[in-house]
Amino acid sequence: MVSDDSTPAAAPHAIAIEQLRFAYGERQVLHDIDLTIPSHSITAFIGPSGCGKSTLLRCLNRINDRIPGARVTQGKISIAGIDLARPDLDLQVLRRRVGMVFQKWNPFPKSIYDNIAYGLRIHGETNRKLIDERVEECLTVVSLWDDVKDRLKSSAFGLSGGQQQRLCIARTIATRPDIILMDEPCSALDPLSTLKIEELLLDLKKDYTIVIVTHNLAQASRCSDETAFFYMGKLIEYGKTVTMFSTPSVPQTEAYISGAFG
Ligand SMILES: Nc1ncnc2c1ncn2[C@@H]1O[C@H](COP(=O)(O)OP(=O)(O)O)[C@@H](O)[C@H]1O
Ligand SMILES: [Mg+2]
Repeated sequence: MVSDDSTPAAAPHAIAIEQLRFAYGERQVLHDIDLTIPSHSITAFIGPSGCGKSTLLRCLNRINDRIPGARVTQGKISIAGIDLARPDLDLQVLRRRVGMVFQKWNPFPKSIYDNIAYGLRIHGETNRKLIDERVEECLTVVSLWDDVKDRLKSSAFGLSGGQQQRLCIARTIATRPDIILMDEPCSALDPLSTLKIEELLLDLKKDYTIVIVTHNLAQASRCSDETAFFYMGKLIEYGKTVTMFSTPSVPQTEAYISGAFG
């Protein structure tokens, strides 16, 4: 990530977070987070609004850097063994390797084709045939190809919300990241579009490590392998999703997943 081929061969976890503290100005919002996230799995971040899920997610590709006063005050995050605080870290490479999908889909004001081609071009790809192939491949992965192959030059804004979100996922995978971060990607979608995205996630995890913030507990239990439950900036419990939803070990987790608060 310092350069594109600097990944150590055998990093034990895709993401390792150690003793992480994070603050906005003087206000500490993440407290001593320790968490390791395995490769090729889906990890769900759950917890009530304001508990720090998005903040932690945004630490993983350092887009919090864009917020004045936002900073890590203690601890460390490593991705594929590389410390994200390294002074020589190339943020553009980091963000290509750790892609992000947002709650409100945000296609570029461009054609369907260009939404996917754009990222390839800014990373230096000029081979038209390769770009065409990658556009088809990515649209096929997100099950959009058949719907849009005859109107690739039309505006992305002509697609439905669910289709635009799948286009955003296609755009993210076009540059072949290792990790995809998703912040409540379905919360503005109807149930059918949500189901399609969930099916897509299960398909994507064979190739990518996915971290998804969701306030939808049913969604976390349907799609994730591991779940991390946060409360007031602390990681309360982390483990296999099936175990956490059937036999949580901390009473607060049990209260949250049984709907006692949230
Ligand atoms: N840009 C920001 N500036 C200052 N405080 C923020 C900012 N974003 C989030 N916070 C605060 O950080 C805490 C965690 O927020 P957030 O990570 O958005 O939680 P969640 O995603 O779990 O709802 C909250 O108290 C929130 O008000
Ligand atoms: Mg959030």
